[in-house]
Amino acid sequence: MGNIIVIGSASIDLVVETDILPNTGETVMGKSFFTTPGGKGANQAVAAARLSNNVYMIGAVGDDDNGTQILSNLEKNNVNIDYMDKIESEASGTAHITLFDDDNRIIVVPAANDYVTPEKVIPKLKYFEAGDIILMQHEIPKETINEVVDFAVNHDMRVMLNPAPYRRLDQEVIEKVNWLTPNESESELLFKNEVDRALMAYPRKLIVTKGATGAVFYSDSQQLVKGYKKEVIDTTGAGDTFNGALAVALIENKPLEEAVNFANLAAAFSVTGLGAQSAMPYRKELD
Ligand code: RIB
Repeated sequence: MGNIIVIGSASIDLVVETDILPNTGETVMGKSFFTTPGGKGANQAVAAARLSNNVYMIGAVGDDDNGTQILSNLEKNNVNIDYMDKIESEASGTAHITLFDDDNRIIVVPAANDYVTPEKVIPKLKYFEAGDIILMQHEIPKETINEVVDFAVNHDMRVMLNPAPYRRLDQEVIEKVNWLTPNESESELLFKNEVDRALMAYPRKLIVTKGATGAVFYSDSQQLVKGYKKEVIDTTGAGDTFNGALAVALIENKPLEEAVNFANLAAAFSVTGLGAQSAMPYRKELD
């Protein structure tokens, strides 16, 4: 079986739970605070590695305590960290998350994640093979995404791009990736509210996630693969779990509908605990 190579951000999440959202210039009292490993790249790597034994991460941390925690958490979760960089005199990335009314608001400070550059990443890809799946998101520099996609096309590797958070995406990249997995709001921004048309234009490539409703893609007609409902404690990381699990199902050559169903199920488990990674499921739970 091939490898899954996650190229992306690794951060520490600083999470505040509150019943009141402050207005500009206002101070309110929160309910709780905790820190926990996050970053969309690391979350997707952990989600995949809890389900499969062939997951590598390419990314960067700072030379601080957060960096040490991020790396040991990845290792503990079965992610190979041989290709992670530690950037001297730089801080690790952080995400500042407010949990309010069953949803989250997130501000990301990339720091070391900005050093996940083409110069650092491309040489590491020579250790991987045709057929491997590269999984990326939008918390690392855009040039890296573009160059990795070109490298993958030239070396018969497959690319899944989760375009989160939203930023403008070159048409060329959309054409070259094998799978594109925005959520509803990202898909509307990417395709200027013509999502149904885009689904048809990119059959079996564009997969739009719709939270607990499930995910849609086009194959002869529009297919909705229904989601699973579980008690929601925290939705942070549900999209990342979907992507990590989808990569696992695809490297195992599951047909797309079955792969999306597997990813929906994993994502449903992930919302049942506080923090992005705490409730990501292990293989035996899904089986
Ligand atoms: O997708 C959730 C993640 O987004 C959080 O863990 C946070 O790190 C932000 O990057």
